[in-house]
Amino acid sequence: MTAIESIDLQRAAKEHLWMHFTRMGDFGTADVPIIVRGDGCHLEDSNGRRYIDALAGLFSVNIGYSYGDEIGQAAHEQMRELPFYTNWSYAHPRAIELASEVASLAPGDLNRVFFCSGGSEAVESAWKLARQYYQARGGKAIRAALTEPATRHDELVASTHTSPRYKAIARHIAYHGTTLGALSINGIPAIRAPFEPLLAEVRHVSNTNRYHRPTGETEAEFTEFLLAELEQAIVAMGPETVCLVHMEPVQNAGGCFTPPEGYWRGVREICDRYDILLSADEVITAFGRLGYWFGSERYDIRPDIVTSAKGLSSSYAAIGAVIATDKVMEAFMDETSMFSHGITFGGHPVMCAIALKNIEIMKRERILEHVRENEDAFRSTLAQLLDIPIVGDLRGTGYFWAIELVKDKETRETFSDEECERLLRGYLSTALWDAGMICRADDRGDPVIQISPPLVAGQAEFDEITSILGDVLSEGAKLMRS
Ligand SMILES: Cc1ncc(COP(=O)(O)O)c(C=O)c1O
Repeated sequence: MTAIESIDLQRAAKEHLWMHFTRMGDFGTADVPIIVRGDGCHLEDSNGRRYIDALAGLFSVNIGYSYGDEIGQAAHEQMRELPFYTNWSYAHPRAIELASEVASLAPGDLNRVFFCSGGSEAVESAWKLARQYYQARGGKAIRAALTEPATRHDELVASTHTSPRYKAIARHIAYHGTTLGALSINGIPAIRAPFEPLLAEVRHVSNTNRYHRPTGETEAEFTEFLLAELEQAIVAMGPETVCLVHMEPVQNAGGCFTPPEGYWRGVREICDRYDILLSADEVITAFGRLGYWFGSERYDIRPDIVTSAKGLSSSYAAIGAVIATDKVMEAFMDETSMFSHGITFGGHPVMCAIALKNIEIMKRERILEHVRENEDAFRSTLAQLLDIPIVGDLRGTGYFWAIELVKDKETRETFSDEECERLLRGYLSTALWDAGMICRADDRGDPVIQISPPLVAGQAEFDEITSILGDVLSEGAKLMRS
């Protein structure tokens, strides 16, 4: 890349490119960061500087950046054979193969795969699927009853003619995407606020953040508290109106909240008790991030629906999927029923070919085994950072970690909004970039640094990440004392 080309890109970026979740006003004088190439766990910018990508793109480039040739070949072959066809009323070989592959990797009877273009669309589709599921099931029961004796028929018609189920439950601070439905499920006040009022009624219950719970509370007591709160929310909303409980196996926003013992078993039981569909948002956690194909397998969640995207193709393609159990699809199997939903690019053959190749590479390179074999080493390397005065907590699993930054380690007091602004945006984001590392300093909940590198990372990358974070956070601690 020559200097002239670099200047042109800068100017054009400032004049034309509207970046996502970005304060564009920041780029009056400052340069737009322009990433031009990648290999393994590293990226290079338009000035030729290298960075370790401790965020794997957006928690998503699971196989790293070095498989462009092999995946490009698969895309090229698909382009030549069939560059596009749709899943509206038609199938094609790659969508069928990918659906079969995903079904074989997903736990239990999660066997039915509906493709879309990304995570928000997957969440949007899951909520629509849940809403229509109860109608479809009711309609099916009525049609079946038409062949039954009159009293049974009347009973069934009455029981299925209840008010529609449309409400959803999610958790505080959880990110689930940006389309209006997904945004309504989102539990982050700051990104909801500009678009309110949002859709229908969604309630948010506590997430599994243990760090700020009362000292002395046992794991069992924490689980009991969370489950009681979930059940109370369902009862208060009217159980017959709730169609979906939507939660991540390990919640990303707020900083890698892992579930306490017994949590998922309890959530499943409550959903069963009130006949509500349980949806696991696995947009980040599926395809190896936790060392398993699905976080639902890791925590034995047994969801009715799974939403996925990112790692399905390691982000080499824009593809997502909603995976439903046979039970969910059964409601739509009458001759006259259909899920009234579709997206032009859902199941795009080139995207499917890329995702298939990605899964083939993940199997061949034993990526899941690699994550499981190295997660302890990753944790213990990052644990060196706990000596820094502002590093309060390190939490996560697999290759999915967060460091919570605190003002006072003893009391766990968090930074004020102004302090967060000064520490995160005023210092850390730029300092990490200048030190050659991309990761996320996030204060959508309490302030955290999120670390989620490509799944091919090993000890050399753990050391590089930890060393850069160590220097930058130590300086940050001094800054906050001054
Ligand atoms: C858990 C979760 N759900 C949904 C989404 C939305 O995905 P996308 O950005 O592909 O629309 C994300 C994105 O980060 C996510 O982390």
